[in-house]
Amino acid sequence: MAEKRAFVTGHPIAHSRSPKIHGYWLKQYGIDGSYEAIDVAPADFAAFLKSLGKDGYRGGNVTIPHKEAAFAGVARRDHAADEIGAVNTLWFEDGLLWGGNTDGYGFAANLDQYALGWAANGPAVVLGAGGASRAVIHALKERGVKDIRIVNRTLSRAQELSRHFGPCVSAYGAGAVGELLGDAGLLINTTALGMHGDATLSADPGGLPDHAIVTDIVYVPLETPLLAAARARGLKTVDGLGMLLHQAVPGFERWFGRKPDVTPELRRMIVADIEG
Ligand code: ATR
Repeated sequence: MAEKRAFVTGHPIAHSRSPKIHGYWLKQYGIDGSYEAIDVAPADFAAFLKSLGKDGYRGGNVTIPHKEAAFAGVARRDHAADEIGAVNTLWFEDGLLWGGNTDGYGFAANLDQYALGWAANGPAVVLGAGGASRAVIHALKERGVKDIRIVNRTLSRAQELSRHFGPCVSAYGAGAVGELLGDAGLLINTTALGMHGDATLSADPGGLPDHAIVTDIVYVPLETPLLAAARARGLKTVDGLGMLLHQAVPGFERWFGRKPDVTPELRRMIVADIEG
């Protein structure tokens, strides 16, 4: 058995790309470690958390539908997990099970890689008010973005986030999006909009200033309809795959003792997997 063991758990879990990412790094750095996918039904998740220490795991990732149950089930949480209200990374520290959230880190690191200076580019418009949106807003706040505008089909969910994150975050219904874009420096889509030909909430990047950056956290397809429209308009675009790759970095470092690089080769491997 490998000396250092980690996992990803979800339900279902077969689709997860995390084993490919961590497996690539383990091989790359010659680490005696393993990273397994474990399918755990919701009814069994609490017992699964309790068994981790005994089974010799150093920690792991948690994905849908367990992120909120992990939030409630760990002994300690980091600041990001508390702000986001969900846990995607587990590890042991001084015998206690800790839960963190690296989605906001991954979001910011992806923009750092492809759009340096993004946080100083002006007001940010965030489409969507679900779990992914919370991670994005947390990252924007951490990086000092002062004017964050959430636009959501259901206004009350955006308002809830605005109350949670404080005065630099404002809330709007879908109809307001046009007027919010004129002076925006960042447009971020956190919803599945445009993927199913459903236009309940849509944003036309044509209304953005020339210096604006557009990013989508959806990465299948890599070029979403929003990114395609932004590129056609001549704007800087960043796809969402880098967020997936970068969110894996802090966990790998905790379990396996080395900060891994998000290399072009890793990206090509996951792109081939998505496109294959
Ligand atoms: P996630 O964790 O991926 O963010 P979620 O919590 O279910 O998932 O949130 C989904 C987000 O996408 C919400 O902002 C949702 O809008 P509502 O709050 O109004 O439901 C948004 N969304 C999903 N499908 C949408 C659609 N067809 N049109 C507009 N918004 C949509």
